[in-house]
Amino acid sequence: MSIPRTYSFTRYLTAKKSVDDRALNRHVWQSLVAALPRATPEKPLQILEVGAGLGTMVERLCAGGILTNATYTAIDMEPTLIAEARRRLPLWAAAQGLQVQQDSQEQLHVQRPGQDLRVATEAIDVLRFVAREQGQRAWDLLIAQAFLDLLDVPTTLPALLSLLRPGGLLYCPITFDGGTVFQPEIDPEFDRAIEACYHQTMDQRLVAGKPSGDSCTGRHLFTHLRAAGAEVLAAGSSDWVVFADPSGYAADEAYFLHFIIHTVHTALTGHPHVDAGRFTAWIAQRHAQVEQGTLVYIAHQLDLLGRVPAPLGETTE
Ligand SMILES: C[S@@+](CC[C@H](N)C(=O)[O-])C[C@H]1O[C@@H](n2cnc3c(N)ncnc32)[C@H](O)[C@@H]1O
Repeated sequence: MSIPRTYSFTRYLTAKKSVDDRALNRHVWQSLVAALPRATPEKPLQILEVGAGLGTMVERLCAGGILTNATYTAIDMEPTLIAEARRRLPLWAAAQGLQVQQDSQEQLHVQRPGQDLRVATEAIDVLRFVAREQGQRAWDLLIAQAFLDLLDVPTTLPALLSLLRPGGLLYCPITFDGGTVFQPEIDPEFDRAIEACYHQTMDQRLVAGKPSGDSCTGRHLFTHLRAAGAEVLAAGSSDWVVFADPSGYAADEAYFLHFIIHTVHTALTGHPHVDAGRFTAWIAQRHAQVEQGTLVYIAHQLDLLGRVPAPLGETTE
């Protein structure tokens, strides 16, 4: 592919799916499967996904046979992403041989023998959603993929956990944890400076004047979960590793790489500690490496599975 002139977050999230599929930690995934309560048609699993993007996690859980009887609420603050999720999920389900019924614009009902899944989607900010739903509904499982690193976890996590029923689970895969590697090296010292400044932009990110990000969210989650009264059931790394094999980059991953470089470019343009001329040349060289199939990109991330306490004597089933 040639270097993109414009960038689409929707295409980036679509391209990210195959990268995530490879990265997700199998041990944490299996621990999630083992910890989930048994669902029945009378008592479907109640799942909430925050920052759900295009809904690729619904597809993944469904394909993994985990969603037999479930109601799945997927929220994201971006209306364009929710619109795309609403467009793509019925197509995806039909292609899997599921019977698809659109209950309303917001709710999809998919079925096949032994499987019954309702997916509700909503464009809403997570904190507004929490404020509205607290005390109204209780979820068995809260999913936050590639999301918590965008928030101020110490203040947000207790509110998110309050949406879980006693003994409910939090699954937060692909949580960024302080490693951004581009190979081959261009200039080791400059490469390191770019990585450090890029991570600093995450640490200093403000949304509506409030801190919203931490470049080491993954490792800090152990402490934050415990401070919020949850236990950590499983954890493991889920690094993105993107490289071109003899047939090139997989799927749309060349676009994924161009998007990542563009993100670094946008984050560091005008940064006081990054020489503008050298940085422009560095960005151009990274894009060129994608075109040549030589760029290797690694992002260090963690998957964690947590659980809020159940009252003494009560089982989590
Ligand atoms: C890195 S993307 C991950 C999307 C999806 N979980 C995935 O892994 O493909 C982060 C998502 O969080 C959403 N987001 C960011 N801040 C949010 C907020 N305050 N409330 C709801 N969604 C938010 C963004 O719109 C974006 O779709």
